[in-house]
Amino acid sequence: MIYETLRLERRGRVGIVTLVRADALNALNERLMDELTHAVDVLEADAEIGCLILTGSGRAFAAGADIKEMAFKTYPQAYGEDFITRNWERITRTRKPVIAAVNGLALGGGCELAMMCDFILAADNARFGQPEITVGVMPGAGGTQRLARFIGKSKAMEMCLSGRMMDAAEAERCGLVSRIVPADQLLEEAIRTAEKIAGHPQPMVMLTKEAVNRAYETTLSEGVRFERRLAQSVFAFADQREGAVAFIEKRAPEYKHR
Ligand code: CAA
Repeated sequence: MIYETLRLERRGRVGIVTLVRADALNALNERLMDELTHAVDVLEADAEIGCLILTGSGRAFAAGADIKEMAFKTYPQAYGEDFITRNWERITRTRKPVIAAVNGLALGGGCELAMMCDFILAADNARFGQPEITVGVMPGAGGTQRLARFIGKSKAMEMCLSGRMMDAAEAERCGLVSRIVPADQLLEEAIRTAEKIAGHPQPMVMLTKEAVNRAYETTLSEGVRFERRLAQSVFAFADQREGAVAFIEKRAPEYKHR
């Protein structure tokens, strides 16, 4: 596939997807979402890649679904083409970790896309919001559900009902983002973090991601039970032995990612 709306790069074991529809503040149109789905497929299938970064360019991470493309859509069209579902949710099924490196605006579908990633690193100029209601619609890519889980009902309700944006400091305070980084260092810091993750044994990274995600889908006792089974399974991997032996021998481990 020839990408028109994003750039796909590899830096060692890190795959970087940069949205480059900057003249439209990276508004998420069908083309972009098809390309993003394809790019994630490519990086997921690449055994040399251990962690993904999704970031924006220009003034935005992404300013939401493309309002111009949606303006005259009918319900039969939206239903028939499986609008949003067909090509928006690939990231949520990625077994490798995905970091959202949010520069500038992450609004509507852009905020929802960032929340589909595993965690959000925010530039100090980042702004988050679900302003759909101000353009006559409502969040449709998981915003009402994921925002409420991230920041709690009161704040999520206020954000979704008023369309108010929050800045990076507020987003960090309420747990939407893991850390704030100066804007000019965002990508480098995201890459450093991704390299660290990708340097850990790939099976352990994937198992850990699966276990943390289960916390959102089940009770505590079932979640702990699930974690216990995964934690016992690590002894099936060569990297478990290598990690322990390297520690005992006081040397750096040489993981084979299996
Ligand atoms: N869709 C399509 N085009 C968009 C867009 C969007 N979501 N957001 C920005 N753009 C385009 C603008 O139309 C403009 O293009 P032109 O130069 O061709 O006119 C260009 O990007 C730059 O934007 P502005 O001139 O508006 O920039 P600004 O600095 O004055 O304002 C902004 C920035 C406040 C973010 C404003 O662009 C805005 O309100 N954008 C819409 C945000 C929004 O409502 N997002 C939710 C969309 S609905 C959704 O996402 C549904 C869902 O849950 C899946």
